[in-house]
Amino acid sequence: MIGRLNHVAIAVPDLDAASQQYRTALGAKVGAPKDEPDHGVTVVFIELPNTKIELLYPLGENSPISGFLEKNPAGGMHHICYEVDDILAARDHLVDTGARVLGSGDPKIGAHGKPVLFLHPKDFNGCLIELEQA
Ligand code: CO
Repeated sequence: MIGRLNHVAIAVPDLDAASQQYRTALGAKVGAPKDEPDHGVTVVFIELPNTKIELLYPLGENSPISGFLEKNPAGGMHHICYEVDDILAARDHLVDTGARVLGSGDPKIGAHGKPVLFLHPKDFNGCLIELEQA
């Protein structure tokens, strides 16, 4: 059911420093910061030949990234995003298997303008999973 790895997201304590490190030390193609108020994050996308890295930094009072950075002050891997052809069919299938979908269970529009859902990390080996409509 899942398709390509769309991105790996890393929560970072300093977005400018992390962007600079990926640009200079790792020699990656790093985009400009973009605020995503619906998701409570500022995002920097890094384009790799086979996938993307998403640097996440808290935006606003109730950012889902704030608690993560409190527990992981140096930053850390926050989620991985897999593409699916049909996000509603994927959700229904996952719910049937007992997986928990976060929030209302309805897809939200994600950082790439496509519908996304998040699956509970406790149901997937401690890894928060984002599904994105391909
Ligand atoms: Co993501």
